[in-house]
Amino acid sequence: MTISIEPIHPLFVAEVAGVDLTDPVPADVFAEIHAAFDRYAVLVFRGQPLTDEQQLAFTKNFGPVETAPNYAGAALRLSNEFTDISNLDYQGNLLDPKDRLVGYNAGNQLWHTDSSFKARRAKCSLLSAREIPTTGGATEYADMRAAYDALPAEKKAQVAELVAEHSIAHSRSKIGFDGFNSDIPGALPSVPQRMVDFYPDSGRTSLYLASHASHIIGMPLAEGRALLEELIEFATQDRFVYHHDWTVGDLVIWDNRCTMHRGRPYDLTQRRVLHRTTVSDVVTAFEERATAEQKASVARPDVLEGETRAAH
Ligand code: OGA
Ligand code: MN
Repeated sequence: MTISIEPIHPLFVAEVAGVDLTDPVPADVFAEIHAAFDRYAVLVFRGQPLTDEQQLAFTKNFGPVETAPNYAGAALRLSNEFTDISNLDYQGNLLDPKDRLVGYNAGNQLWHTDSSFKARRAKCSLLSAREIPTTGGATEYADMRAAYDALPAEKKAQVAELVAEHSIAHSRSKIGFDGFNSDIPGALPSVPQRMVDFYPDSGRTSLYLASHASHIIGMPLAEGRALLEELIEFATQDRFVYHHDWTVGDLVIWDNRCTMHRGRPYDLTQRRVLHRTTVSDVVTAFEERATAEQKASVARPDVLEGETRAAH
């Protein structure tokens, strides 16, 4: 089998063809796919009408599959190895656009990276398009490595050792959602993540930003938030962004460690159904990679902790 890997953006993103993901992928072919994933950070496959079983089988090549807690406390349509990126209820019927679950899912329209609010963050996500509305509903991706490279030298120096605290409660509070399942705040306390990291597999350094980042450790709350916003705005300029218009049968895989993404609005009276599997990162969790100094900064009681908590 010969696969082709063609870049479709000047900075990142490649389209992979010549492989049928409904069948098990041979090890040598997967090695080529993984090398392309390291290099391009986002891979697009077209014409892959996957079942959940096939999607899960392909996902497992990348590493351990993350299971999702029931964030919003509504009955789920998919098993906990899937994140339901849809506007359907647990029975597969279109949700009322005013349903609180639709509101919860709208949080995905803020620039983010998946599971940055988990101590074991996500390595990659695989999103399979099952039903697509006639207009809108694209997903956009931004290259955090290219954004890092483009930062002025003094900004690189400023962010090099910074650690941000991430929490799902924070990002959802931004869109006015507070209807979490009662065990979520306890099960998912906020976690520290380095804002800059180097990845040996790609040889690239990347920013690590997300709507889930609530503040920067050791910085006054407002100043840290302003810096996070400034960096997100810088890193999501058009030149760093790939816009994906979905066709049923597309599978897009992205590296959550060095990209951000967001969903775009669409007509909520039409069905939009994508199934996501997510792979856990096993080597770059904060505990394993942070410097002793960064760990100490997290352990030190933050003068602004009270204020930060209240703002969540
Ligand atoms: C995701 C995600 C946004 C969208 O799949 O993780 O955030 O609506 N998707 O496409
Ligand atoms: Mn997401």
